[in-house]
Amino acid sequence: MNSLFEPTTLAGLPLQNRIVMAPLTRSRSDVMGVPRPFVRDYYAQRASAGLIISEGTQTSFAGQGYARTPGIHTAEQITAWKRVTDAVHARGAKMFMQFMHCGRIAHPLNRQIAEAPVAPSAVRPAGQMWTDQQQMQDYPTPRAFETAELPALVEEFVTAARNAIAAGFDGVELHAANGYLLNQFLASNTNLRNDRYGTSLQGRIRFVVEVVEAVATAIGAGRTAIRVSPGHMFNDIVDANPLETHLALLDALPTANMAYVHVMLADAFSPQLNNAGDPLTLLRTLRSHVKGALIAAGNLTIESAQAHLDSGVLQFAVFGRPFIANPDLVERLQTGATLAAPRAELFYTPDAEGYSDYPVMAE
Ligand SMILES: Cc1cc2nc3c(=O)[nH]c(=O)nc-3n(C[C@H](O)[C@H](O)[C@H](O)COP(=O)(O)O)c2cc1C
Repeated sequence: MNSLFEPTTLAGLPLQNRIVMAPLTRSRSDVMGVPRPFVRDYYAQRASAGLIISEGTQTSFAGQGYARTPGIHTAEQITAWKRVTDAVHARGAKMFMQFMHCGRIAHPLNRQIAEAPVAPSAVRPAGQMWTDQQQMQDYPTPRAFETAELPALVEEFVTAARNAIAAGFDGVELHAANGYLLNQFLASNTNLRNDRYGTSLQGRIRFVVEVVEAVATAIGAGRTAIRVSPGHMFNDIVDANPLETHLALLDALPTANMAYVHVMLADAFSPQLNNAGDPLTLLRTLRSHVKGALIAAGNLTIESAQAHLDSGVLQFAVFGRPFIANPDLVERLQTGATLAAPRAELFYTPDAEGYSDYPVMAE
């Protein structure tokens, strides 16, 4: 009856259901970007999902923006992630890794290298970010990438994708949402470049298309996915026409062969919306430009998730905050049990508290 809970496949990959755990930054790695031992417990506890998408993970030390986020570019990181994917696979879920190069959303105190953050253009984001050493700090102005540096940046994503596969991941999701590097190339207020990676709409989408194509060539299109957030103004993204930008991007991507396109619905996380339409209209519009699976997160409930699957607008339902406090979210949704509320003050703290210590429901 309930297709949310039925086994299915994703680009040929068998999944135990259509419930996906959203990428959730939790800052439980050491300063070298190595996930701490209890990261394995946290993900394994949630492996009754069909698919788990990892927290945003940097592709290099230069891609790091936040304190204590993980990487996938050193041998120690790969070894630690292999333990995670082994534990997740043992409990039946599949796992993709989300690549998050932060670009300008970065503070030098959070990074292991001396170089300043680098972005498409030298545009300082409004606002501040957390540092463990000096609490909230203004963002610095990033340096703009030279055109000649961009082939190596594409290659950085390719190497990270090979590393993720070596670490046992079933695929990778390129984070082009929420104002990070790939989104900075897309948006008109953060991409002021006058080379072929800017200037026009086709220029602004070019870098993202090149990264997707290079990663798909390296590990297979069926193992490659992308996340977008049209209209989301998080991290000071103010695209002049987000819908036009994202439809051009989707039309240029090999979505028929990719694992999925993942939408972060803009109103779920902050009230800021930039003219991309209400969530359902937006999803319907995107659906007609995506030739493979479309998945989305943003305040979904079991009822809305099922309705989206039934209408065909979504193929998988993604849950974020509900998975934080409910390691057995799938079982709770299936039995109609009450959902526990997450403790937001422990979202980004360093230890197991508020992370891998949420209980499953009572017998
Ligand atoms: C603590 C926290 C961390 C997040 N980290 C990420 C992240 O690393 N990458 C990402 O794409 N989205 C991230 N998000 C957004 C979620 O993936 C999800 O889209 C959002 O929470 C909306 O879904 P929900 O209403 O089910 O929570 C984060 C959200 C929260 C609450």
